[in-house]
Amino acid sequence: MVIKMENTLIEISDMHKIYNPGENEVRALDGVDLTICEREFVAIIGHSGSGKSTLMNMLGCLDVPTTGTYMLHGIDVSDMNDDELSDVRNREIGFIFQGFNLIQNLTAVENVTLPLIYRGVGKKEREQLALNALEKVGLAHRLDHKPAQMSGGQQQRVAIARAIAQAPPIILADEPTGNLDSNSTKEIMQILRELHSEGRTVILITHDNEIAEQADRVIKIRDGKIVSDTKQLTVPKLETVCQEIENQEQENRKPAITTDEETIQENIMEDTDNA
Ligand SMILES: Nc1ncnc2c1ncn2[C@@H]1O[C@H](COP(=O)(O)OP(=O)(O)OP(=O)(O)O)[C@@H](O)[C@H]1O
Ligand SMILES: [Mg+2]
Repeated sequence: MVIKMENTLIEISDMHKIYNPGENEVRALDGVDLTICEREFVAIIGHSGSGKSTLMNMLGCLDVPTTGTYMLHGIDVSDMNDDELSDVRNREIGFIFQGFNLIQNLTAVENVTLPLIYRGVGKKEREQLALNALEKVGLAHRLDHKPAQMSGGQQQRVAIARAIAQAPPIILADEPTGNLDSNSTKEIMQILRELHSEGRTVILITHDNEIAEQADRVIKIRDGKIVSDTKQLTVPKLETVCQEIENQEQENRKPAITTDEETIQENIMEDTDNA
């Protein structure tokens, strides 16, 4: 049996983020220790103001901690300068936000290609990457639509296409379904699950228990501290189990059909003898 070792992707030690140090200081992160392995699907859950977005900003190299260390792929990113952080972001991370953050006067395909222009990807390649990404999220028929001509769920799918166009190994999503109805929420969660099953690390921030339960691991944060960290049991859904039993029973009810030539020949002989 091959035992696959899990590779550590993220290692945060004793991280603090203090806004407005002094009398009115806010300890948005207050001693966070966190390890996330490659290919995990993690939800970070907590009430409003608990420090989720602050933690996401650190994980996404959008900000640096006041104290503490952040190792990403074994490299210390906690005191990198802006240019270095921007390189890490471009290479490693796809971001998805609650408000989609699309540019209103650009079409779906233009929104997806824009970051690729900044990254110096050539015209032909970026058009192909954008097309592939939009196809992947089921929007090949909406390439020339602007955000205002699309539903909320479709706009979030454009934002996901933009995040995954260059296949980053990490997806960071901050309340990606916060502005969506239940059907669009299902679609977006399905896409995130697919991205995870393709081998990406997905980190999802939410305040919604039902959404968090869809991840493999749930980390609870309160007042800037991690208060629980649980791996979910992957119990199959009752309806899936029932459907499988039903399929098996149907299979058992079918008459046994033989394709063995000798047996068929014997049966024919028997029939002829009986006639
Ligand atoms: N730039 C800032 N300056 C000062 N305080 C801040 C700043 N950003 C966040 N805070 C404070 O830090 C704490 C954590 O904020 P954060 O945005 O991380 O919460 P959150 O869990 O994402 O909340 P929500 O669910 O409402 O998005 C809050 O008390 C907030 O007021
Ligand atoms: Mg937030």
